[in-house]
Amino acid sequence: MVKNLGASERHTLEKIKQIDKILRQRTGIKLTDTMAQRIKSGLEKISHNESEEEYLIRVLSSEFNSAQAKELIDLITVNETYFFRNESHFKIMEEEVIPRLVEEKIDSPQKMINVWSAGCSTGEEPYSLAMLLKDKLPFGYKFKIYATDINMSVLKKAQAGVYGKNSIRNSLIEEYTQYFNRLDQDKIEIKKEIKNHVIFMYLNLKENIFLFGLDLIFFRNVFIYFDEDMKKEIISKIKKALKPGGYLFLGTGEGSSILKDEELEFKYINGGSYWRKRQKK
Ligand SMILES: C[S@@+](CC[C@H](N)C(=O)[O-])C[C@H]1O[C@@H](n2cnc3c(N)ncnc32)[C@H](O)[C@@H]1O
Repeated sequence: MVKNLGASERHTLEKIKQIDKILRQRTGIKLTDTMAQRIKSGLEKISHNESEEEYLIRVLSSEFNSAQAKELIDLITVNETYFFRNESHFKIMEEEVIPRLVEEKIDSPQKMINVWSAGCSTGEEPYSLAMLLKDKLPFGYKFKIYATDINMSVLKKAQAGVYGKNSIRNSLIEEYTQYFNRLDQDKIEIKKEIKNHVIFMYLNLKENIFLFGLDLIFFRNVFIYFDEDMKKEIISKIKKALKPGGYLFLGTGEGSSILKDEELEFKYINGGSYWRKRQKK
């Protein structure tokens, strides 16, 4: 049974629909109940004298790079992540992708591997990749990891490179102890030699993606925010950013929309999967 809404409830519902619409237009993010709840509890601190909905609409419609809009996005986005999340991807990297990249670059003078970690959150994913590549690439090979997110607070944390218990819950990190300092039993700090390989940057996936010619893209657990149209839009952007022959990893269960893609070939091995951009004929 549909509840009869009073005028003020109807007004609020209208405003929330409006917020959802602006948020989708500007970031691709669809507003969920959990997000609405997070906004509500965080908003008192930042909304000053306006009503919550009016405040959201004004800020989201304004110059999107403003400090207020960024503060709001930080409130909305959920940033769960940890080192070597979805271990099978790192096994595939070690056993299949890295050896192939090494072979493919053997005659290239720079021997440079360019990687993008999209929606990198607090940095555990790009740092896991950096540790793996540093450890497994032969002498003379170089790599750069571009790590991007829409949330400025997580990027700041990523740059600091200090992590607690939750981040180091997968024991695979113990194979890379030479790349971090242990500050205490449950706290680690990433060493400079790893940090130097990672460039953290603000990037809103709804806007222009300025990265291209990439050998490898990790795009995991970001699709949860988006509707089918935005997923399609992003997949076409990823395909442009990836080199022919480049590799793409998505989060578990996130690839249903590209299972039959003309430009991307699906590979399933050892309990994990990835995509490869086809070489031009
Ligand atoms: C759940 S985290 C995934 C972290 C990491 N990739 C992993 O799999 O562990 C998703 C990240 O996507 C970011 N994100 C959501 N919408 C975005 C957008 N429109 N542009 C850029 N980043 C976005 C969020 O801020 C969040 O940090």
